[in-house]
Amino acid sequence: MTGEMTQTNLRSAFAGESQAHVRYKIFSERAEKTGFPNVGRLFGAISFAERVHAGNHYRNITAKGAAETVSAALFGARTTSEDLKAGIDGETFEIEEMYPAYKTVAQFQGEKAAETSFTWALEAEKKHAELYRKAKNVVDQGKDLELGTVQVCTVCGYTVEGDAPAKCPICSAGRDRFKSF
Ligand code: FE2
Ligand code: FE2
Ligand code: FE2
Repeated sequence: MTGEMTQTNLRSAFAGESQAHVRYKIFSERAEKTGFPNVGRLFGAISFAERVHAGNHYRNITAKGAAETVSAALFGARTTSEDLKAGIDGETFEIEEMYPAYKTVAQFQGEKAAETSFTWALEAEKKHAELYRKAKNVVDQGKDLELGTVQVCTVCGYTVEGDAPAKCPICSAGRDRFKSF
């Protein structure tokens, strides 16, 4: 069967993104409860972006099989600083190892739709890692993040602070496809 490995990778990425969606929701609630409302809002926005990634991968899954994950999740984190560290580590793993490897396999197998799904996620995760790094720097000084409106592309999960761009730099969707947090 062609593309079996890409199918396995899609299932793994779907599981990883689904977990990230829920994990960031939990982190969001904890940040809000412990005096970091803006960090909480950032986790909430990125949680939604991971839901977009999960949906994109899900649409490309055709084979049946158990969901497995290689996502570098950290369990049992207790503070918002540790949650942000977990976020940075998870995003970095996806940027440096998981999505480049999945993309290469999809390319090799001629799986165009899967390749797009992996590419969009890979590009969006770069912004997530950057935003979490910025948040961790201020949280480690005991302060909440100064954060404007956060915009998330509902097509590819691209995440940006401020106004939504006229055209998404990752997937070219128009401004009306962005959701604000
Ligand atoms: Fe993601
Ligand atoms: Fe992400
Ligand atoms: Fe987009």
